[in-house]
Amino acid sequence: MCGIIGIIGKSPVTPHLLECLKRLEYRGYDSAGIATLESGLIQRHRSEGKIHNLQERLKTINPQGHVGIGHTRWATHGVPSERNAHPHATEKVAVVHNGIIENFAELRFMLEQKGHVFTSDTDTEVIAHLVTDYLDHGLTPQEATSKALKQFHGAFALALIFQGHDDLILCARRGSPLAIGLGESEMFLGSDALALAPLTQKICYLEEGDWAELSRETFTIYTAEDLPVERPIKETFLTGAMIGKGNHKHFMLKEMLEQPTVMGDVLRAYSNPSTLAPSFPEFPVAAKDIKALRIIACGTSYYAGLTAQYWIEKYARVPVTVSIASEFRYGKPPLPQGGMALFISQSGETADTLAALQYAKDQGQMIVGMVNVPESSIARLSDVVLETHAGPEIGVASTKAFTAQLMVLACFAIYLGGHRNILSEEESKKLFQSLMEVPEAMAHILSEENTVIKIAHALSEARDVIYMGRGTSFAIALEGALKLKELSYIHAEGYAAGEMKHGPIALIDEKVPVIVLAPSDELYGKTASNVEEVIARKAPVILITDLEGQKAFEGRVPLSLSMPTLHPFCLPLLYAIPMQMIAYHTANLKGTDVDQPRNLAKSVTVE
Ligand code: F6R
Repeated sequence: MCGIIGIIGKSPVTPHLLECLKRLEYRGYDSAGIATLESGLIQRHRSEGKIHNLQERLKTINPQGHVGIGHTRWATHGVPSERNAHPHATEKVAVVHNGIIENFAELRFMLEQKGHVFTSDTDTEVIAHLVTDYLDHGLTPQEATSKALKQFHGAFALALIFQGHDDLILCARRGSPLAIGLGESEMFLGSDALALAPLTQKICYLEEGDWAELSRETFTIYTAEDLPVERPIKETFLTGAMIGKGNHKHFMLKEMLEQPTVMGDVLRAYSNPSTLAPSFPEFPVAAKDIKALRIIACGTSYYAGLTAQYWIEKYARVPVTVSIASEFRYGKPPLPQGGMALFISQSGETADTLAALQYAKDQGQMIVGMVNVPESSIARLSDVVLETHAGPEIGVASTKAFTAQLMVLACFAIYLGGHRNILSEEESKKLFQSLMEVPEAMAHILSEENTVIKIAHALSEARDVIYMGRGTSFAIALEGALKLKELSYIHAEGYAAGEMKHGPIALIDEKVPVIVLAPSDELYGKTASNVEEVIARKAPVILITDLEGQKAFEGRVPLSLSMPTLHPFCLPLLYAIPMQMIAYHTANLKGTDVDQPRNLAKSVTVE
């Protein structure tokens, strides 16, 4: 959360700072700001709201500095406002920060006693004042920063510029990612390689606890103990074009439409083309020896884990427990020696998931990280990395990353089932072949926009919406409800269809649309009975099912979306698509900000 950027350039850096901030806006959009050095003096420009507001303000000012830092904020301490916007600064230093300084209150108290005057409600401002305090005592910027860093508790990525030093940026990383970009007599730094993609392809990631000193020609990285250290320089293949919207109205729409292609990419990555069998990297524990699997994730990634629980238990007979990362540690769960823990995360940077990973590591678990960002912290801390190959996902609501996670997990279930002798070769092939039909079926569903728009009209006036399903459709119902609430701000809940009668059915009346996911599989009969119970209570039912499933309710439900009929194994991948489309079109009708819903950020790097 929060995006930071820094540039030491050969020409005025403001246009590049703004361009890079735009690419980081998915990390937060409560306020934005930059600081540059103008004739050696720090000049700050900040605006509440999105980067567009800052851009408008800077049009008339047109700063000329060749060194600068920038920030886009997701508010933690202090309301979204100009005075709380980064950079925070004194006359001598300006700082941008991603993360939380947990001991800011005591540091602020100590600094105020010494006469420092604070002008914001943020935790970040203590960084500027503490470094200034050391500069006032004659320390160099490097000495002052290194000394200050040792006093901060919490998680952070920082960038600092200093009055009178126009060939210097200092930066530091603890708990939040930071990448240095190498140019030709220019140096860049940013929260991720995406932001730097148009400027350079040469990236060096800081490791946990590192801090670094950048000039136009060179950079030096130090460990937390101030020892110089080499970190590898990598080529990224990200380009500016890859992260554009193309002709689409929203990133989310573009990313939804990319799903059939992404499914093909995932299948290619996790299968052997000659045998049509799943192919996975070697795990430290053989599949047949896995006693239990713990899956841990947040939000949409958690729902991918819930879906996988059904698959892996049924087809590979491995007991699976799925935990919400932010809750996982609190019961101090005992984890079996030699157990496997799978962490699912699009960004690979989610703070709750990282904290859970650390716990599992300390308990001696084999760590498998399933991430969409191969250079992410979760990938770096994992024993085995399973990449989801969805490509950069910019829309804050996860779409293609979710279905890519599902596809990897489906292949993983077949892989485990085969290696544990639960699935015969023939059964494995049959399941795998059903996955190969997914890209085309997805493309078909994505073309059913007109019916989805009718559903969106029906939902757009609702105050509450219920989603229900059984088995894997329950997991997808939960995902559907999350998508609708985060995009359209309509209250929505997902329930296991059989659970309705244990309480939630009391919510039902003619004003509460109920979206039912009911493929005509072995669970259809029971879900159909639950639909009858809902119809009897006059709720408008929106039925998502195949032609067979529609028959029983012909003329009895106001709206129905017709789905392809494939093997039940692969249906969660298909039923995820209308969940996204319904939320997208409802949000569009309501006029909400689809790509950047209020109060959210794409990469959740605070606990
Ligand atoms: C919802 C959504 C979030 C994320 C969650 C975890 O559309 O995108 O619920 O799934 O914040 O993020 P990652 O997967 O990056 O760990």
